Amino acid sequence: MAAGKGKRMKTGVPKVLHPICGKPILGYVLDAVRSLGAGNTLVVVGHGSDLVREALGDDLDYVEQEEQRGTGHAVMVAMEELSSDYREVLVLPGDSPLVRADTLEELVDARRRSGAAASLLSVELENPEGYGRVIRGSGGEVKRIVEESDAGELERGVSEVNACTYALDRERLQESLAGLDTDNAQGEYYITGVVELMVAGGEVVVAVSAPAEEVLGINDREQLAEAQAIMRSRINQDLMAKGVSMLDPGQTYIDYGVEVGGDTVIMPLVFLQGATEIGEGCVIGPCTSIKDCRVGDRVRVEFSWMEGVEVEPEVQIGPYSKVRPGTRIGRGARIGSFVEIKNTVVGAGSKVPHLSYMGDAEIGEGVNIGAGSITCNYDGERKSRTEIGDRAFIGSDTMLIAPVRIGEDSVTGAGSSIYEDVPDGNLGIERSKQRNVPDWHKRRQKRNRRESEGWKKKSTGE
Ligand code: UD1
Ligand code: CA
Repeated sequence: MAAGKGKRMKTGVPKVLHPICGKPILGYVLDAVRSLGAGNTLVVVGHGSDLVREALGDDLDYVEQEEQRGTGHAVMVAMEELSSDYREVLVLPGDSPLVRADTLEELVDARRRSGAAASLLSVELENPEGYGRVIRGSGGEVKRIVEESDAGELERGVSEVNACTYALDRERLQESLAGLDTDNAQGEYYITGVVELMVAGGEVVVAVSAPAEEVLGINDREQLAEAQAIMRSRINQDLMAKGVSMLDPGQTYIDYGVEVGGDTVIMPLVFLQGATEIGEGCVIGPCTSIKDCRVGDRVRVEFSWMEGVEVEPEVQIGPYSKVRPGTRIGRGARIGSFVEIKNTVVGAGSKVPHLSYMGDAEIGEGVNIGAGSITCNYDGERKSRTEIGDRAFIGSDTMLIAPVRIGEDSVTGAGSSIYEDVPDGNLGIERSKQRNVPDWHKRRQKRNRRESEGWKKKSTGE
């Protein structure tokens, strides 16, 4: 069920698309269902359904619930689309991303084992506020579920809550859906009403208890942050179990699906996002953001930002580097402080150690880029490429005015603006001749003295 608006989120984005560790809420629910091997998965969409479809792809079966008249109504709409081959139905809320596949399996098994018409997931919460309460009879049997807005004081005191996750016998479900009404505080068809109807018809409904965190439904931003924190610690625990060290897991922010190799150390305030893979034996951070990057083994990145970059083994990056999309850094290369690199290949063993901008460049192997050198790759209209051959030495503060090619083993003079190609093995130098002025210091002192005497005379009226 993913058709709701998410009123309490105060959002323009459909609630189920809000990301948790880089993945939409609904994506987690669907993953759990997928690993159960469900025959047919129907996603009930409504509010922002185009966006939901776009985000989750078209290999899923979507059912449009045009008017959102409650969770019971969502199931009614879905049942119209469900092939008659299926005898058993699992109903889940699209806003509870923390439920585990094992728990769902237990839920399905519990119903099959007991021959009950339905099994539901429930949990004891210290603070049950906002959830439907599970009301049991004197023998402990499940009788019905009451929503908070319809509950009396006594019922509100019940701490066992409904996760809105059910395994149901298809026929019993259809019979009871037909009996639902909207006679409640919200004027909606509640799927929870099915439980009471089944029990009234002499059927049994069993409850399976789940760990508290798994039922967390995301209705507002606070719950979103809470779920994020739980998911983050699951991801971190999983990586640590695989041999990754974290100085402070509470301050390590890794997206779902990011891979990190063994013996890599992650320092605090590191963000690993998107489709990122980090190799073995790396040291990442502190204060580093890496998105959509492939990073080889034994790489060191500190206080830096990288996106869409491929980094070969044994590279050092930072502190304070910004490496932008389309860049590949060759084995053993060094990118130093206050360096920005964009859409550039840096060859193996090359160094860009200080205060440089390299954009749209092809830098060979064993090249040294002197401090303060930049590629002037943009003339306000076009971007042009710079090529730097193997073992070239770019003198400090060289302006490489693209398009330009610096040959292999060639050198540029410090402070040069290079606008013509430098052939292999040449020195390219472009700067005016230096002139030294003798006795400059003495002459300046003399002038200063003269000036201050003149000023004194004026002020004393002599
Ligand atoms: C629901 C349950 C409540 C339970 C809680 C657990 C009902 C009436 N209440 O309450 O007992 O404790 O979940 O998190 O079922 N949706 C639709 N179509 C609709 C209405 C909702 O697809 O017409 C979807 C929503 O997008 C959401 C899910 O169903 O993903 C649950 O709806 P929500 O409004 O969040 O229900 P709760 O009030 O949280
Ligand atoms: Ca909810």
